[in-house]
Amino acid sequence: MIAIGCDHAGYEMKKELISVLGAKGYEFKDSGCDGEKCDYPDIAEKVCEDVLSGGCEYGILICGTGIGMSIAANKVKGIRAALCTDCFSTKYTRLHNNANVMCMGARTMGTGLAAELAEIFLTTGFEGGRHQRRLDLIEKIEEC
Ligand code: RB5
Repeated sequence: MIAIGCDHAGYEMKKELISVLGAKGYEFKDSGCDGEKCDYPDIAEKVCEDVLSGGCEYGILICGTGIGMSIAANKVKGIRAALCTDCFSTKYTRLHNNANVMCMGARTMGTGLAAELAEIFLTTGFEGGRHQRRLDLIEKIEEC
């Protein structure tokens, strides 16, 4: 199960992603919005909760730029949210950062690219090893 959410700026892209990836067998827990104006931190918080304790493996957040969503999501302890804009960094944020939430901007990229990035994110595993040590250091920062 994939947690997904958007604000009003990301609504059309979210619908398209659910349709394209749903056709490939992915299942989504959709935390809104449904197109109405809303505040992206509220949606980011719900999706992050679903990733941490709601049985969802990953989260996808979409706003106008993806930036607001990523800032908000990264405030939640245990969340490693990455703003994904290209194939390389999307792949490496899974391999090296073990990102558990991806954020994208509906006003900065097309839906075709967003769907491709989402598939890369959802199918790439964490490499572990030396990268785990760095994630442990990030966890220490969370304790400050
Ligand atoms: C909403 O207008 C816009 O500010 C929001 O979608 C997002 O881009 C914020 O980072």
